[in-house]
Amino acid sequence: MTSSRTPLFAANWKMYKTLKEAAVFFETFLKLLPQKMEEEIVIFPPFTLLYSISSFIGTKIKIGGQDLFWEKEGAFTGEISPLMLKDSGCHFVLIGHSERRKYFAETNSMINKKVLSAFEYGLKPVLCIGETLEEMGKGMTRQILTKQIQEGLKGVAHSDFEKLVVAYEPVWAIGTGKADTPSQSNETIRFIRETLSDLCGIHEADKIRILYGGSVKPQNIRGFIEQPEIDGALVGGASLNPEDFARIVFSRVLS
Ligand code: 13P
Repeated sequence: MTSSRTPLFAANWKMYKTLKEAAVFFETFLKLLPQKMEEEIVIFPPFTLLYSISSFIGTKIKIGGQDLFWEKEGAFTGEISPLMLKDSGCHFVLIGHSERRKYFAETNSMINKKVLSAFEYGLKPVLCIGETLEEMGKGMTRQILTKQIQEGLKGVAHSDFEKLVVAYEPVWAIGTGKADTPSQSNETIRFIRETLSDLCGIHEADKIRILYGGSVKPQNIRGFIEQPEIDGALVGGASLNPEDFARIVFSRVLS
């Protein structure tokens, strides 16, 4: 972590939690937040919880959608527009999570449309990228990441890059309990920043927050955030428990 970029800790709740369970989470989690904090916290709950959560989380936590559809409105049954996310209190949106790429056949070109739409409507996209186990095994990690970055960010205005967040989530580390090592993910994230700087220049690329995600736990978070290139974490399973998530967000203060 470097002092020039605000640390960001994001909770991806995936398809977990009812409204009652979310209320129980926040009852504990809000009490664990210090008066003043430099960390930015974003919760990505299921769509059904966005509006109600926004009414009781206060100003210290922000919320985001786990996906969006790129059109503003229209006959697209089952989809959620960027305008609707804004309307529900969102500041952020996850785009291109590997589960969406895998189970819902999202391509880099669809992801690109979503990224452009998020910027157009004033949402900060968290672009998720990462290689599969097979791709890593074939030594293709950098090639895959380059393609995901170049195709996913095609046409992004120069002035929008500083609002972008990138989450490096090696697919083999998601939900497996087998996190990447801090030093290897730091190297990969350094490479991601270099690739971003080819698109927007080093000055802008230096402002982009890049998170690590994949089996982050209270027990291993320190190793990641001690790395200079890693600006925070995108947390799945461990973010469902308020104490565990607080231990991840405030690991530097708590130990
Ligand atoms: P886990 O933290 O459960 O491995 O999930 C990571 C993830 O997919 C966050 O988006």
